[in-house]
Amino acid sequence: MRTSLSDEFGIEYPIFGFTPSEHVAAAISRAGGMGVLGCVRFNEAEELDATLDWMRENTDGKPFGVDVVMPAKIPTEGSQVDLDSMIPPEHRAFVERTLDDLGVPPLPDGDRVSAGVLGWLHSVARSHVDVAMTHADKYGQIKLIANALGSPPEDVISNVHSHGVKVAALAGAKEHALRHVSAGVDLVIAQGHEAGGHTGEVTSMVLWPEIVDAVGDAAHVLAAGGVGSGRQIAAALAMGATGVWMGTYWLTAAEYQLGVRGAGPSVIQQAILNATSRDTVRRRIYSGKPARLLKTKWTDAWDAENAPEPLPMPLQNILVAEAHARISGADDPGVVAMPAGQIVGRMNAITPTEELIKGLVDEYDAAVDRLEKARH
Ligand SMILES: Cc1cc2nc3c(=O)[nH]c(=O)nc-3n(C[C@H](O)[C@H](O)[C@H](O)COP(=O)(O)O)c2cc1C
Repeated sequence: MRTSLSDEFGIEYPIFGFTPSEHVAAAISRAGGMGVLGCVRFNEAEELDATLDWMRENTDGKPFGVDVVMPAKIPTEGSQVDLDSMIPPEHRAFVERTLDDLGVPPLPDGDRVSAGVLGWLHSVARSHVDVAMTHADKYGQIKLIANALGSPPEDVISNVHSHGVKVAALAGAKEHALRHVSAGVDLVIAQGHEAGGHTGEVTSMVLWPEIVDAVGDAAHVLAAGGVGSGRQIAAALAMGATGVWMGTYWLTAAEYQLGVRGAGPSVIQQAILNATSRDTVRRRIYSGKPARLLKTKWTDAWDAENAPEPLPMPLQNILVAEAHARISGADDPGVVAMPAGQIVGRMNAITPTEELIKGLVDEYDAAVDRLEKARH
């Protein structure tokens, strides 16, 4: 499994793994892929700085990337207090009532939550890029900045390029991909409808070749959305992608420690292990923009007739931030609030990352052998 991207990034396999866990990101890079750390959960630049130090110490000098959430259009930027005051009381009441109905306990006394909110603000995402560039200059391991929502602003792209780092951006439609290319993005992540997280309406099978054709030689295309096996990687490369970008697949990695309390899989991992490929929904309730989530009692409550319309980004994030923290403490796999793609149906065991990568490579080889035989 080798493409021009393998050489460009100095990686063994053109497998880009998005994960919010530094433990998993480091393990992906150590195993020959490109671990990309999701930064939206870091409210403070210092926290990210310390985590990138940890990544450097745990990646054997291998390259890795950083993912920020920088909306192309900034709906509202202001203090937490200004934004708080824009949330309708009916929405707050609905969230409170729903959490009570679902038996989700309050946070322990004294806990306050803004966690997971500030990272969605443009200014905070910019500070994430600045910290990452300092690390790129000092240690040379950070090779990629990816942006979840649209092209990053042109000054951010040229700043990142001036540090010798490439820029990737997610695209759910051909038009997004073309905008990214004209903004100077190096890798377009063609993200099909079945993906976990923010996603558009066109499925991977249709979107990948459409974006490959639209982009031509102007940028690399990473195929994303529903990839969870080596066969799908073979299909992606056959359609002209030079690599894959995977997110959901890593949620059952043994190194994934977010939300783990005590021994055994976390509540989130239990929910993922239980889910079939039909147990996801695409809704605006997570961030204000359509994102694919695990279908649980929490998403069902928002589908009920008495539920309010979700708010625009970033107000919806603020509305649900405390609810998400409470849900994480609820110890109930039936109530998690978590992005996950349709590939979740194949994820039936907790597995060390190194084995996850090896499984992909072995299955890819077998698929390519099969195709080779099918040629004659
Ligand atoms: C739990 C989870 C959180 C995600 N958070 C982000 C994020 O913060 N930034 C981002 O660019 N993409 C995010 N994504 C999307 C992934 O980067 C990736 O594009 C997607 O998971 C690929 O589709 P797949 O889930 O079918 O592999 C998230 C995905 C998951 C499953």
